[in-house]
Amino acid sequence: MASQSHECVFVAFIFMLLLLFSATCKAQLSSSFYDTACPNALTTIRTSIRTAISRERRMAASLIRLHFHDCFVQGCDASILLNDSSTINSEMDAVGNRDSARGHNIVDAAKSEVEKICPGVVSCADILAVAARDASVAVGGPSWTVKLGRRDSTTANVDQANSDLPSFRASLGELISNFDRKGLSERDMVALSGSHSIGQAQCFTFRDRIYDNASDIDAGFASTRIRSCPTNTDGDANLAPLDLVTPNQFDNNYFKNLMRKKGLLQSDQVLFTGGSTDSIVSEYSRSPTTFSSDFASAMVKMGDIEPLTGTTGQIRRICSAVN
Ligand code: HEM
Ligand SMILES: *[C@@H]1O[C@H](CO)[C@@H](O)[C@H](O)[C@H]1NC(C)=O
Ligand SMILES: *[C@@H]1O[C@H](CO)[C@@H](O)[C@H](O)[C@H]1NC(C)=O
Repeated sequence: MASQSHECVFVAFIFMLLLLFSATCKAQLSSSFYDTACPNALTTIRTSIRTAISRERRMAASLIRLHFHDCFVQGCDASILLNDSSTINSEMDAVGNRDSARGHNIVDAAKSEVEKICPGVVSCADILAVAARDASVAVGGPSWTVKLGRRDSTTANVDQANSDLPSFRASLGELISNFDRKGLSERDMVALSGSHSIGQAQCFTFRDRIYDNASDIDAGFASTRIRSCPTNTDGDANLAPLDLVTPNQFDNNYFKNLMRKKGLLQSDQVLFTGGSTDSIVSEYSRSPTTFSSDFASAMVKMGDIEPLTGTTGQIRRICSAVN
């Protein structure tokens, strides 16, 4: 009897140790992370981001996309912000980013404001996550509580950027598995694609679709887009709004467009062409509040992808270079 209860105490003790170990080992992000170390961090970032967006409204879109492209490559670790150097092959040279991803300078500027008040405390990865939220709010989109405590990488991975960032040519199946690999559901994927309610795309990303005469595109919409997107590669960089109705306002018109075959990219339209995501698209087109709350939770989930925490990584002094 006695030895049995000793055994029990021992087992309980080991169990507690394991719990303690797993708790310290897998540090969690928390919205109060900077409350004592840098209480004005969030307002400082917000001021900086609002100023940038009031100068150029498209920057809201660019910052949201930058956070997405950061999180899909070795987690949300600000790897996308690193310039080329002797040790870094910049992710900016990946196909989805080159001459396309924007907003690095805005994050750099927010970082230098934050460094003035709390040097060496707030990570670039967190600044980018907060910037994406502030950007959404600035253009009428949803708000959410940003979890904090991410640290910055000392590496970048251009090969992973090439393989893991989704292509505008992707089929629905490819999009689903691409997001599933990052722990995001079909519903998350559709909600997050609603970011295409704002921002611009270059002609080369939608040329095939508008010249295809396919049955999944509205003919009038195609001919309008053809006017500013010639077959000639000279027009490759010409811009068109991802949401033709309200390109500067974050709303659910993107989903209404898809139901009218007016998605700009193939990867947009495949979300509503008779597949498993049709019902989600029509739900979001009917209910802006459902879209809004699903988008917010999906952004939090995306921001949780493989963060560096605890003592891993570093707090960069400058976002474009490792310390
Ligand atoms: C589902 C797979 C996705 C694909 C294939 C895709 C593809 C693209 C492409 C090709 C562009 C235009 C880039 C250019 O022409 O330079 C773009 C723009 C954009 N994407 Fe996505 N995207 C996807 C999902 C997302 C997600 C999940 C987000 C954010 C959570 C997002 C946010 C944006 C924004 C805001 C823009 C406009 C950027 C600007 O104007 O600077 N996209 N996307
Ligand atoms: C699409 O239709 C237009 C006219 O409606 C025609 O000029 C063009 O050749 C067609 N393209 C294809 C790929 O069939
Ligand atoms: C990184 O590149 C940008 C754009 O070329 C430049 O403005 C910035 O100063 C660079 N950062 C560093 C640390 O050299």
